[in-house]
Amino acid sequence: SKDQYILAIETSCDETAVAIVKNERELVTNVVASQIESHKRFGGVVPEIASRHHIEQMTVTLEEALDESGLTIDDMDAVAVTEGPGLVGALLVGVNAAKSIAFSKQKPLVGVHHIAGHIYANRLEKEFEFPLLALVVSGGHTELILMREHGKFEIIGETRDDAAGEAYDKVARTLKLPYPGGPQIDRLATEGKETIDFPRAWLEDGSYDFSFSGLKSAVINRLHNAKQKGEVLKDEDVAASFQASVVDVLSTKAYRAAAEYEVKQMIVAGGVAANRGLRSALVEKFEHLDTELLIPPLHLCTDNAAMIAAAGAVAFNQGHRAGWDLNANPGLDL
Ligand code: KG4
Ligand code: ZN
Repeated sequence: SKDQYILAIETSCDETAVAIVKNERELVTNVVASQIESHKRFGGVVPEIASRHHIEQMTVTLEEALDESGLTIDDMDAVAVTEGPGLVGALLVGVNAAKSIAFSKQKPLVGVHHIAGHIYANRLEKEFEFPLLALVVSGGHTELILMREHGKFEIIGETRDDAAGEAYDKVARTLKLPYPGGPQIDRLATEGKETIDFPRAWLEDGSYDFSFSGLKSAVINRLHNAKQKGEVLKDEDVAASFQASVVDVLSTKAYRAAAEYEVKQMIVAGGVAANRGLRSALVEKFEHLDTELLIPPLHLCTDNAAMIAAAGAVAFNQGHRAGWDLNANPGLDL
């Protein structure tokens, strides 16, 4: 039978990304234009700057992806795009580009939820086996999601305040590390020791929810106290102690949930899945379970369009279609 190609666009935050996926699971091309350098000097993503960059990068990124693949838009079976959640001005650039391409070539259009994308990034590596759990840890999300079948997501736990990546970025800023802070803290943590006993927010018994704002405040207060007392704290040790707390809570709750729901697979997704401390803690914990642990390679952890194509392909094959009135939805529910 004929091969199926899905072209996907992702512009929800600070990466302009275009990818093509073949037959739901085969990555053909994955182009990501990062804006990190432009946002660095502001210590975070500036929405207005992000939108402008997306406008500049959209066409070149699309052309690069098509050139690399040797395919044309005529070869595509559908166009998928991230419709939310994310920055509204950023999302709009991708949504409008996808609508223009799909409309001009009369191709079906599919709207994709950004988090569904992060989860489906894993399917480019390994076929899903249900039921599965996904630990989604990114700059905007911290969720434990149960999937019993394709395209259906049950949130069994989520953050009540900051996302894990957000906590990393805020603590990094306090330590005057460049944006994005996650990778910086991850690097420092490997050079330090857990000398400070930071709190772990376990919340109520049996809860799979998370909370990181208390930890963030504890780090800030500890640094402040040290400064007042003239005590010298090594950044490496602060990073290692902070990371130990985050990793302990994330890996323990993921492990407990996997055991309770008796899932076949545990998927880790989102930018924080790149964290070396988290990866090794999960590997160690899951050795004791029959659950298969899937952690995507780094280029599939952070924002990309391959994951949107992977999720979009399944949605398309399940019959989902967006209309020409598809709009960016910054608060889209999963
Ligand atoms: O998924 P992502 O690329 O964008 C969102 O959808 O948010 O995640 C970005 C987040 C940032 O907060 C970044 O600091 C964090 O992922 N991150 C990390 C690491 N690499 C990226 N956090 C901890 N350790 C890392 N190695
Ligand atoms: Zn993301």
